[in-house]
Amino acid sequence: MATRRRCLLSRLLGLLLSALVGVTHGSELSFTLEPSDIIAVQEQPLMLHCQVDGIPPITTQWRRNGAALSEDHNYAMFANGSLLIGRFQQTKSDGSADEGDYECVAQNSFGLVVSRKARVQAASK
Ligand SMILES: *[C@@H]1O[C@H](CO)[C@@H](O)[C@H](O)[C@H]1NC(C)=O
Repeated sequence: MATRRRCLLSRLLGLLLSALVGVTHGSELSFTLEPSDIIAVQEQPLMLHCQVDGIPPITTQWRRNGAALSEDHNYAMFANGSLLIGRFQQTKSDGSADEGDYECVAQNSFGLVVSRKARVQAASK
């Protein structure tokens, strides 16, 4: 019982220490690459980029108009943070659209940062 408690205590101390080190050494995540506004061509692939600096593990996620995007047949998210829209569609059969404001969200155990909004617009025909 005593060893177990000691173990827990040292783990807590470890957590506290790493948090302190993190705070004093700028653990804040910072973007090294943020998505930029883009004019998209109908039915063509489109890529948005996002890269962050910070203490790993870092997870990145994308949002369109504030709603989280999930990976599906149309979206691929790479480990380097880039988002690929396989086939850009201004309007889809379900009434949604790939047009909109995209932002990248990065998170590690110290916090969360949200990138600038990148406006993705369809090229006018
Ligand atoms: C991220 O990876 C994808 C797939 O390998 C690549 O196409 C893309 O250019 C990469 N992004 C950057 C910013 O290098």
